[in-house]
Amino acid sequence: MSKNYYITTPIYYPSAKPHMGHAYSSIVVDFFARFKRIEGYKVFFLTGTDEHGLKIQRAAEENKKKPLEFCNEISKTFKQLSNTLNLSNDDFIRTTEKRHHKSVQNLWNILEKKGEIYLSKYSGWYSVSDEAFYLDDEIETKDNIKVAKSSGSKVEWLEEESYFFKLSNWQNKLLEFYEKNPKFILPRSRKNEVVSFVKSGLKDLSISRKSFSWGIEVPSNKKHVIYVWLDALTNYLSAVNYPDIDNDMYKNFWPADLHMIGKDILRFHAVYWPAFLLAADLPPPKRVYGHGWILSNEEKMSKSKGNILDPIEIINQYGLDSLRYYLLKEVSFGNDGNISKDKLISCINSDLANNFGNLCQRVLAFAEKNIGLKIPEANSLSEDDLIILNSFSDNYQNLIDFINNQNINSYMNFIIDQMFVANKYFNDQEPWNKKDDAKRLSTIIYTSLELIRKISTLLYPVIPQSSLKALSIFAIKENEVSIETIKNNSFLKPGSVIKKIDILFNKVIVND
Ligand code: ME8
Ligand code: MG
Repeated sequence: MSKNYYITTPIYYPSAKPHMGHAYSSIVVDFFARFKRIEGYKVFFLTGTDEHGLKIQRAAEENKKKPLEFCNEISKTFKQLSNTLNLSNDDFIRTTEKRHHKSVQNLWNILEKKGEIYLSKYSGWYSVSDEAFYLDDEIETKDNIKVAKSSGSKVEWLEEESYFFKLSNWQNKLLEFYEKNPKFILPRSRKNEVVSFVKSGLKDLSISRKSFSWGIEVPSNKKHVIYVWLDALTNYLSAVNYPDIDNDMYKNFWPADLHMIGKDILRFHAVYWPAFLLAADLPPPKRVYGHGWILSNEEKMSKSKGNILDPIEIINQYGLDSLRYYLLKEVSFGNDGNISKDKLISCINSDLANNFGNLCQRVLAFAEKNIGLKIPEANSLSEDDLIILNSFSDNYQNLIDFINNQNINSYMNFIIDQMFVANKYFNDQEPWNKKDDAKRLSTIIYTSLELIRKISTLLYPVIPQSSLKALSIFAIKENEVSIETIKNNSFLKPGSVIKKIDILFNKVIVND
């Protein structure tokens, strides 16, 4: 079995200031990427910006900039966001790069050579904001404006010469593919949505535009630029050096293991993308997961609705790990999630400060005072000690399965349970009453330290900075973090140093 793992975020339109929705998508992917790394996988985590198309051209015009100049600036803010969010991405792709240009034109040429593309005329609805075509029954009129029902974005009527991809030919092959790969689309509700869309009949897809120029040229006809979604989706291939398929990057990482996306772009990833790939004789990705929206005031956050919660502000005020923890724990993954400062604060106070942070501080302080800052002997573990320590090895396979099924909430629940159990263990054992039983005292401290180590290891994908800080108690470095070690009940070596750390999370005091 290959120990490689390729995971992607959507590449973001650099037409807006990064908002909480972008941050959410990226944090989720970072969580999975970090877990797979500590599971021993060689991970390739890709993110980037989607810079072509009419939407970007117009945004540049509004800002009185040339498109590329505009993209250079905004792409930079997305790159900075990756740093701010402590993303462990291995690459950041921009669709204006040469490597991508080459890859898209190559894919086009193959599709053309295989007879999958023909020239005709498109007439129909188009939303520039979604960069999507809509059928009559997908449109409604609101306040005298025609909008797409699904997104609420304004549509305009379009009539022009266009190349088409023979999507209609792929209807049955797609349905077969979904059937053979029952977990290609997750969660299940989204899969059902896609299957019924495909069953309802696929029309050929317009894949070029003639009325503007900000895009990648159709190789055989310079009057056309390639439809931005065919362009954008191909980024996932460009980053692994396609069309050079003899290259190690391609060989190791394609097909991608997971395209993590928001539910708004499911159709592009779960219908068009596998159809393009199948038509070009390339293997489709193994999984597309459509997560929900981050809502604020019950609505999807968007620039036009003006309800954007700024991730940078939240991070400056409460810290990155608090935000990461909150988003991963509180959003029921796959569904929409409402975010609120109140819930964020209660998460920080109850889970991070009072539960995990407190566990670390009280065990360290007690150890320092009573046995000094050296790992004690474990002596003989009692049944109580063993039950608690073993629940990590007992649940090891479950934890791996949670991750492989993108079941973030079960993973988080396990950690939270263990935090409670560890605190309760320390209370119930009353080490302060065992001061004249040196052996038992050492064993309780040893067990508590092992619990801190195991919990911190599990927290690494969630709150990497704080987890590493906690692991520094035991001099465990980032490249040594390994999920396998949670099965070990005697990882810590008696006699080695315990390093004291500062408070991990400060309680947030709310003044009413
Ligand atoms: O669609 N809640 O880019 P985009 C949760 N360039 N996630 C959200 C969100 C919200 N309120 N708003 C955005 C594009 N997202 C294309 C993608 S991929 C080949 C091309 C996240 O800038 C979510 O993952 O509009 C969504 O799919 C993505 O940002 C779209 O970002
Ligand atoms: Mg969008």
